[in-house]
Formats: sequence, C-alpha cells, structure tokens
Amino acid sequence: MQPSNVLDNASSDHRDLIREVEIGLLSESPSISPKFLYDPLGSHLFTAITLLAEYYPTNTEKDIFSCFETQIVDAIGVGGNLIDLGAGNCQKAESFFNSLKPSNYLAIDFSIEYLQDAVTKLAGKYPHINVQCMGMDFSKQILIPESIPEKNRVFFYPGSSIGNFLTSEALHLLRQIKDQAKGGGLLFGVDLMKEDSILKLAYDDPLKVTAAFNLNILNSVNSLIGSDFKIEQFSHKVIINHTESRVELYLETLEKTTITWPGHSRVLKKGELIHTENSHKYTTETISNLLDQAGFESTQIWTDPKQYFAVIYAQ
Ligand code: AVI
Repeated sequence: MQPSNVLDNASSDHRDLIREVEIGLLSESPSISPKFLYDPLGSHLFTAITLLAEYYPTNTEKDIFSCFETQIVDAIGVGGNLIDLGAGNCQKAESFFNSLKPSNYLAIDFSIEYLQDAVTKLAGKYPHINVQCMGMDFSKQILIPESIPEKNRVFFYPGSSIGNFLTSEALHLLRQIKDQAKGGGLLFGVDLMKEDSILKLAYDDPLKVTAAFNLNILNSVNSLIGSDFKIEQFSHKVIINHTESRVELYLETLEKTTITWPGHSRVLKKGELIHTENSHKYTTETISNLLDQAGFESTQIWTDPKQYFAVIYAQ
C-alpha cells in the first residue's frame, strides 16, 4: 500500500510513454524527450552535475536565493501552499521552509520513485507542514489535488527547468500556473544568455558527468521500450544555437547502426544525431515578455553580479 502522503499518480500511461519514444525515434530527425533523462540513475547523475564547478546555474541560483531571501519572502508572504514542480530531492524548497512557513507542501516530479524517500524524510522533520508528493507529467497538464487549498498557491520552479521547454510550451505551462495561482504566484529560476565558452563548459564538463547523463537516456529508453541501444556506439554532443538562444544536446552515432525494438527498427547513419534536450537561455526582457503574454501582472527579478542567472517572482 502507498503511504498516505503519496497521492495518486497523474503521470502519463506507460503505453503513451512508449508511443512517445517510438514517434521520436522513427522521425526523420530522431529525438528523445528530455524527460527520459530522469530515470533513477539519470536523476542521480543530474544531482552530480549540480555539484560541478562548471555547472554555474545551481550555485548562482543558490547565491541569489540566500542574498535576497528577505526580499523574496516579503514578496511572497508566509503561510501559503507551496507547490514544487520538478521537486527532485526537495532540497531547494526545504531551504525556504523556515522563512516561508508553508502550510502545505506538494512535491511533484515526473519520477515518483526518486521523490518518495525525500518526502518521507521531510514529513518527519516538519510535522507541522502537510507534506505530500505526486508523480505528474506537468508538461502536458497541471492537475493539483483538492487537498491543496486553492488560495495562496505558490508554485516553485527553480533551476531554470523552464528553459527545457520550447517557448510555446513554456507559455502553455506559465498560463496554466497563472490560472491556478489565485492570490499566489510563481517563484522560479531562469538561466540568462552568456558567452559560448561558459555554456560549453557547463554542458560538456571535463569529468564527462553531463556526457554520462545524456548517454544514460539510451539505457532509460532500452528499459522502457525494449530497444538495443549500445552506449559505446554514441557520443555526447553540444551545439549552441544562437538563433534560438539555446544550448542543444545530442547523441551522435560513432558508426552506422540499426536499433531494434518490438515491432520496429531504425537505421542510424554514422554521424547522425539524436536530439535529447534544449536548454533555452533568456534575457530579463524576453522572460518578462513571456510572463506578460501568460497573463502575469507583476514581476520582481533578482540577479547575480555577473548576470548569469535570474530568480523571478511573478503574480
Ligand atoms: C534541468 N535542466 C534545467 C538542466 C539544464 O541546464 O537545462 C538539465 C541539464 N542538462 C544538461 N545539464 C543539465
């Protein structure tokens, strides 16, 4: 039986996920959705990325949170209902528990397995907060359970995860949040555009942790659809796309190979690319425009001295 703080899973159906992967693999330009990066090993590899000196977003965001904590808490107000989108190990939200004093905390992530442990520990540590968790693919639709009061919902979306969506998808997500954040708002982090050399190092680190994170998506797909991808036949590739203002991650085939799985196969030529992730980089103007379009009426923005990253509270 599920513990009482684990809510019914609103994640996509297993067959829908298989179909989604198949469509991507069979497309003319093959792709795999970045959500498949986060199987249990991928989630740990991502945590390792956040510990790398080259991956500046995590530390920069953390510095902004601690430098402007008073202003951020003043803007949000205490006692609200904190909804953590893509909660992972829940550490970032927890760092606000003592100052924001939320009444309810709902941790949402694509993979519930990784969440459960963290949420059980939190519930024991903060008995006065109603701590719950839920598996949900919120890139499609955000479904907040009735146990979370409608008033003062504060959505928390740190780490510039919004950057992993296309602009049109980010707008769809922001509109949904705006509709459901009555009397509350959205606190989130966004990575800002900067020199190529810094982006390159952040997404292709010398220890090759990001390469392992990217390559592991093939293990994740093998388990999901029963395919026979061999990791050693691929290499991690990063392209900086200035036109789209984003870093793009790919897996490049090192030799011609045929991938097979029940009912299908796909031939990949030597040097062919499988697209696995976009990481959009905004400016304070482009993200403010997007928030405007989504219907948010006011925004407060805090940045670091190098203007690498921005933390925003939008209402
Ligand atoms: C989760 N997301 C914001 C990360 C990013 O920077 O786009 C994922 C990541 N991919 C490679 N390194 C980190």
